[in-house]
Amino acid sequence: MRIDVITLFPGMLEGALRETILGRAQQAGLAEIHLHQLRNYATDKHRIVDDRPYGGGPGMVLKCEPLFAAVADVRSKDSRPGKVVLMSPGGTVFNQPLAQAWSAEERLILISGHYEGVDERVIEHLVDAEVSIGDYVLTNGTVAAMVVIDAVVRLLPGVLGNGESAQSDSFSEGLLEGPQYTRPPEFQGRKVPEILLSGDHAKIAAWRKECAERKTARVRPDLKQAKT
Ligand code: ADE
Repeated sequence: MRIDVITLFPGMLEGALRETILGRAQQAGLAEIHLHQLRNYATDKHRIVDDRPYGGGPGMVLKCEPLFAAVADVRSKDSRPGKVVLMSPGGTVFNQPLAQAWSAEERLILISGHYEGVDERVIEHLVDAEVSIGDYVLTNGTVAAMVVIDAVVRLLPGVLGNGESAQSDSFSEGLLEGPQYTRPPEFQGRKVPEILLSGDHAKIAAWRKECAERKTARVRPDLKQAKT
């Protein structure tokens, strides 16, 4: 899979993308991630990418010209067309089913929004999806793009090792994951639940499912359409 990120702050991603599983995935050729400086696509000599909003109001708005030019140029670097996604607090909320769906794409082109917003013509005519990573406002969409990259790349075939299966992730069954324990069997008087030491795999699976359902009902009742 190829991922392109168009951002004013590529430095926010450079280090993070080199680390751990994402770094490994790129080295193994499973994910190819390219960063593009939006300012390089500004059309004026001051390399201005934003302007005051029509109709007044606070803050600045990212202009059409650099964003359309950036997407056209980035698109032309590879024959795979790619889904264009704008990171924005005004988008639909990114979640695990979306991560699953996007991990099947050949290419994603992520645009990190900034300032108070982005010219609406970008949203209407340039992007295929506008997504938020949650109901809070970040200074810009670059960290949000990182979140999407992380969630998508770890689902690509071969990225997680055998011991790191995504199968039992929280949300993968529409439920939060139940509790996990590791050695020692007793810590400061607190014991690991007996059943986990029993070796009875069917009973352990049933217990885990019950714990996951109880936790989901308590912490995230909105997820309750649990599959059976
Ligand atoms: N840019 C600013 N806040 C954001 C959010 N919550 N999600 C995606 N992009 C953003």
